[in-house]
Amino acid sequence: MERIVEVEKISFDNEEENTLRPTSWDEYIGQKQIKKNLQVFIQAAKKREESLDHVLFFGPPGLGKTTLANLISTEMNANIKTTAAPMIEKSGDLAAILTNLDEGDILFIDEIHRLSPAIEEILYPAMEDFRLDIIIGSGPAAQTIKLDLPRFTLIGATTRAGMISAPLRDRFGMHFRLNFYSHDELAQIISIASVKLNCKSNKEACLETSKRSRGTPRIALRLLKRIRDYAEVEDESEIVLHRTMYALDELGVDNHGFDELDKRFLELLIEAKGKPMGLSTIAATLSEDEGTVEDVIEPYLIANGYIEKTARGRVATPKTYDHFRLTPLNKPSHFEQS
Ligand SMILES: Nc1ncnc2c1ncn2[C@@H]1O[C@H](COP(=O)(O)OP(=O)(O)OP(=O)(O)O)[C@@H](O)[C@H]1O
Ligand SMILES: [Mg+2]
Repeated sequence: MERIVEVEKISFDNEEENTLRPTSWDEYIGQKQIKKNLQVFIQAAKKREESLDHVLFFGPPGLGKTTLANLISTEMNANIKTTAAPMIEKSGDLAAILTNLDEGDILFIDEIHRLSPAIEEILYPAMEDFRLDIIIGSGPAAQTIKLDLPRFTLIGATTRAGMISAPLRDRFGMHFRLNFYSHDELAQIISIASVKLNCKSNKEACLETSKRSRGTPRIALRLLKRIRDYAEVEDESEIVLHRTMYALDELGVDNHGFDELDKRFLELLIEAKGKPMGLSTIAATLSEDEGTVEDVIEPYLIANGYIEKTARGRVATPKTYDHFRLTPLNKPSHFEQS
């Protein structure tokens, strides 16, 4: 018996995150080029009364991939069915999902790099020809049944661009890499979110939080909620700069937005005194898996020039040394000696 799975809404985000999710292009700040391109492609598809071509989003966590998938469904007036690759274990799981789609539906598969090769094989004809090839039985008696599928749009999201197989990647008509946000963009996101959270934030406060958010909307929004708590207990009706700075310091948020993992990572490299460190050594020392180091920690540090990847491993840049010199609390022991 084939196992039938229902496509369910699997969300890694909490309810509150959903309430802050932009529901229109106006509220979706930044990623200008992606936004511009998508608006053209959506408009063209609607004009031709066709479904949108398949879309692949990649980029570090919290930059807005799920948000974009939802915005596309709103703009296309299409239903969106959301799942994540680890939920699709058997070919029957995917067959059930695909045969439950209606014309024009959007299927959003998160963490798409985690699909097994056997599942990917089924996805290829589904994406290209809207056809499902099911093999029934085994050995010489095996038969292939071909089923027509409605024309749907697959949206894939991944934090690991390098781990998507080339044949799967090539079957997406659009590829978009999300970038870290500028301070101004994050400040705008924080300001819009404060209104939704029924608290006022002044401009300087928004900007201060944005500078310490690792270029990431999810982090900015999380910090905003905590700062709001500090303002609330002080009976302050508006979030202002001094309360923001106080709260962020109390939360241990570094003035570059580094979190504990970033700091431990950078300290490791500084302690290596310029000797490149391999990914596996770094991951083992931090007690994290290599994927987390590569997808979550490194992209921001590389994008902002704090580390460099060389053929022999990772090294800290002068900017990192400067940063830690300016932060005596984090100063590693060998700085004292020099
Ligand atoms: N461009 C944006 N403008 C405004 N808010 C944004 C934007 N991008 C993301 N957000 C906010 O940040 C939160 C996190 O974004 P989202 O869940 O889309 O990230 P993600 O890229 O899917 O992350 P993950 O890789 O962890 O799934 C959202 O709830 C949304 O409120
Ligand atoms: Mg997501």
